Amino acid sequence: MEIDANTRAIGESHSKLILLGEHAVVYGKPAIAMPFPLKVRCIVEETIGHVMLDSIIYTGVVDHMPREMQGIAACMKETLNYLGKPLENLSISIDSCIPLGRGLGSSAAVAIAMVRALFAFYGKELSKEELFSLVQISETYAHGNPSGIDMVSEASDCPVWFEKGKEVLPLKPTAPLFIAVADTGRMADTRTAVDNVKKRYAANPEKVEQSLEKIDDMANKAKAALLKGDIQCIGELLNGNQQELVKLGVSDEGLNGLVQRALKAGALGAKLTGGGMGGCMLALGKNMEHAKLIAKELREYGASNSWYFSTDSDMLYGVYE
Ligand code: PMV
Repeated sequence: MEIDANTRAIGESHSKLILLGEHAVVYGKPAIAMPFPLKVRCIVEETIGHVMLDSIIYTGVVDHMPREMQGIAACMKETLNYLGKPLENLSISIDSCIPLGRGLGSSAAVAIAMVRALFAFYGKELSKEELFSLVQISETYAHGNPSGIDMVSEASDCPVWFEKGKEVLPLKPTAPLFIAVADTGRMADTRTAVDNVKKRYAANPEKVEQSLEKIDDMANKAKAALLKGDIQCIGELLNGNQQELVKLGVSDEGLNGLVQRALKAGALGAKLTGGGMGGCMLALGKNMEHAKLIAKELREYGASNSWYFSTDSDMLYGVYE
């Protein structure tokens, strides 16, 4: 008889922020992403019968999961298949603090937590390669042709330098970044935003290439600034990156309003983060108190939620907590 390693196992993941380089990363340019301490936890337990899922979106048997969860369903099935285990006798619950579709990488984080929990449940070691190839299944459903930046940064404990198809480099900032994040309260439409950039590229390749080159250059400068601890310079680069994202047509009025408000509050720089067209933006503060003030002002301005944190800690603070 086969003895399972556990009757209950837990897998976790944090979400992510793209500091610079979203969209350009799809075209092979570099990007810098970092852990964002909003978390998801997945618990796998032994039961009898069909695999049952319990989540904020859907509770019930796995075979009837709604369309927006098809990626997670496919990832779950493939993980069990890879582990040589049947699709039965499991209860899987997902408890996530990451708002859905806000450019914070919620779909990849849920998949990471679930794959980790399933491997732990069956007492199997999980390599990074196995994790990425299984999570990529779910990401392909969510984004079509994802660069992979979400899962890579969510599986990392520190900021990363990411280029599609190349080795991921951990980046250890010499000085902490104090960051405020605000949510427009509207779903970011990453798939449409990526498609729009593609259409713009087809219609006007020189212009789009110019923006992509500028973002590439800014990401390289930001990497050097991070390693030197030149926070002022990072702020300027965030502003420059935002201007190019506006030109690429992926920002919108709500995001622009929050960016302007953050700058008015003295942020060193501010930009959208993730796919854009809704979703979240981030702003760089001078210190933790300043990041808190910016987060507070963004919430008062109309953000549906805002947080602040420092990159040298795993703590996340919400404005009205
Ligand atoms: O919206 P998010 O958090 O999934 O970020 C997408 C980042 C893009 O560069 C726009 C797309 C990608 O696949 O890298």
